[in-house]
Amino acid sequence: MQSACRCVAVAWRLDFGCGVARLARVRILFINGPNLNLLGRRETGIYGRTSLAEIKKRVLQHARSLRVDVDFCQSNHEGKLVDLIGAAPGRYGAIVINPAAYTHTSVALRDAIAAVGLPTVEIHLSNIHAREDFRHRSLTAPVCAGQICGFGPLSYLLGLDAAVALAKATRKQP
Ligand code: DQA
Repeated sequence: MQSACRCVAVAWRLDFGCGVARLARVRILFINGPNLNLLGRRETGIYGRTSLAEIKKRVLQHARSLRVDVDFCQSNHEGKLVDLIGAAPGRYGAIVINPAAYTHTSVALRDAIAAVGLPTVEIHLSNIHAREDFRHRSLTAPVCAGQICGFGPLSYLLGLDAAVALAKATRKQP
């Protein structure tokens, strides 16, 4: 399992006392739901052979090229995921979430996303709309800015691009 994320509070605006102010770096929180810790060996015909650790590496590399900061978390527990979302305001400009199976079942995750009001991007490795009927419905997508699915690990990089654009568009200018 990925370790719990490192949480660092950042002010959106830094004032240097000489009239010069600049925006702090954009910080994005990635949240991964149940069984994604098993990527690479779990149903590889659907999810591929790339592990979550490798996906995290690619996301951090892309984040460096965009000059943004990313924290990357995974939990199999619904309440832990709710806690991560609830603690995000003031620390992150946007969330990227792969709620995994909770996509289709969790009113609690949906309510948490709606409650914090942070721009949130839902992502999936597989195209959930091309799979079993029960995967076609997402309880979380309606409270997210949008959904990216079906691109394998690339969904994570596209999710980061979208989240950075949303975080920059919604943050306050000095
Ligand atoms: C998933 C799709 C979900 O339906 C499934 O329960 C997952 C992974 C994906 O990334 O494709 O665990 O979120």
